[in-house]
Amino acid sequence: MSKKTLEVCLSPELIGLHLVSNKAVVVVDIFRATSCMVTGLAHGINSITPVATLEECKDLQTLGYIAGAERDAKKVEGFDLDNSPFSYMSEHLKGKNIAVTTTNGTYAISKVKDTAKVVIAGAFLNLNAVAEKIIDLNLDLIILCAGWKNKPCLEDSLFAGALAHNLRNNFTFADDSTTMCQRMYAEAQADTLSYVQEASHLKRLANLGIEKDISFCMKESVYTEVPVLKNNRLVLD
Ligand code: MLT
Repeated sequence: MSKKTLEVCLSPELIGLHLVSNKAVVVVDIFRATSCMVTGLAHGINSITPVATLEECKDLQTLGYIAGAERDAKKVEGFDLDNSPFSYMSEHLKGKNIAVTTTNGTYAISKVKDTAKVVIAGAFLNLNAVAEKIIDLNLDLIILCAGWKNKPCLEDSLFAGALAHNLRNNFTFADDSTTMCQRMYAEAQADTLSYVQEASHLKRLANLGIEKDISFCMKESVYTEVPVLKNNRLVLD
C-alpha cells in the first residue's frame, strides 16, 4: 500500500493551492494560539471554540463563554483572557468552555474547519502525541502554518519541519515546503529555542516583556493531549 502524503502550507493565504477535503490538517501557531489551546485542554478546560473575529468572540462571551482575545500579541479590552499559555493553566478554567480569537491562529483554523476531514491543534508542546495521532488517522496530511498576518514565520515552519521529521518514515513528502521545513528542523533540533531567536514574533513578544511564553512554547512534548475540532469546538478526542 502506498504511503500517505504530507504537505506543508506556509501561510493561510496559500491554502487555496492545496486540496483539503478528505485530509487531516494540523494547524500550528507556536507563538502562541495553538500552544495555548494545547495547554488549556491539557489543564482541564472542557472545550475551546476558535473564531476568526472579535465580534464572534464577543457574541459567545455574551452567551456565557469565557472569552480570550488577542490582537498584535496584546489582550483586547473587554475580554477575559489574554493569549499566554500560563493564563490557560488557571484552576478557574477547569471544566469551562472557552471562546478565543487571535491574530493568526484562529484565522488559520477558520480557513480549513469546513473542508478538512480532521482538524488538529499542534504545537511543540504536544509534538510526539500529534505525530502518533496522525499515524493512527492514516489520512493524507497538510500542516497549516498560521504565520504572521499571512506571511510565513520561522517558528511555525520549524514546527512543520519537526512534525515532518517525526513522520518521515510513514509519509511521502509531497511538496518542497515540506522538505525545506524538515531540513530546517534537522539543522535546528539540538537547540530550537536558540534557532528561533531571530523570529520576528519572538522579538515582538520580547518587546512586550513576554519572554517566559517564548521558552515555554518551544518545549517539546510536554503534553500528550491532542485537541481535535468537533462541531467547531476543540476538545480532547
Ligand atoms: C497569533 O495568533 O499569531 C498569536 O496567537 C499571537 C500571539 O498570541 O502573540
